[in-house]
Amino acid sequence: MTNKNKYFIANWKMNGTNKLVNLHKKIIKFAKKKKFKSNIIYCPPSILVESFVHAFKKTKIKIGAQNCFHKDKFGPYTGQLSSKMIRSSGCEYIILGHSESRAHGDSNKIINKKIINSINNKLKIILCFGETSNEKINKLTNKVIRKQISSALKNVKNKNNILFAYEPVWSIGTGKILNEDNLKKYFLFIKNLLISKYNIKKPIILYGGSVNSNNIKLFKNIHNINGFLIGSASLKINKFIDIIKKTYI
Ligand code: PGA
Repeated sequence: MTNKNKYFIANWKMNGTNKLVNLHKKIIKFAKKKKFKSNIIYCPPSILVESFVHAFKKTKIKIGAQNCFHKDKFGPYTGQLSSKMIRSSGCEYIILGHSESRAHGDSNKIINKKIINSINNKLKIILCFGETSNEKINKLTNKVIRKQISSALKNVKNKNNILFAYEPVWSIGTGKILNEDNLKKYFLFIKNLLISKYNIKKPIILYGGSVNSNNIKLFKNIHNINGFLIGSASLKINKFIDIIKKTYI
């Protein structure tokens, strides 16, 4: 695997203040290198989005949001943000279906509504899905993946602007990752599913869960992985750059 045309998505979750925006001069410099042909997307907390959009203006780095509300008309929804507002703040991407958002109430049906609204507002979707540790123990991984993808894509016409992020819930923030054989197996399964059932010619499939600069080499033989959704290891700029550099072989 080389990092050409790969996606490196920093999911900052509920971390950071706008003091950190300045640190990103380093990544701007890094992304400017001629041979650098990948996609870097920062997904900071919503309150930092505009500072990030400003800091990364005129660079190749894109900005994404971490979630939105499922309704898209302005209205009395205290504390919520619609996909329309997110797009107008300068975001090009949005993470939807993350297990941490699912744990706080996002059902498959709600996620589907958010996807449809976000696509209507011209956002690209980073759709997360994956099994819990119980589901893994009970050998339900394929079933869970199939169900989460099929609910998410219900009535979605334009599927080309969706990136598919396989994030086993048991792998997020735990340091645990699938072994090479299982990575190959599940990525092939997801790729075949997206091509055969959903007619997506070249699906973009990402991995997320405890990816860091020490374990990134594990992925070098997994040809069906198009990039990574990176949580805690994306908060330290040098570590994040290191991950990207180490995907060169
Ligand atoms: P992690 O998070 O890299 O900290 O495990 C990944 C994610 O939740 O997207």
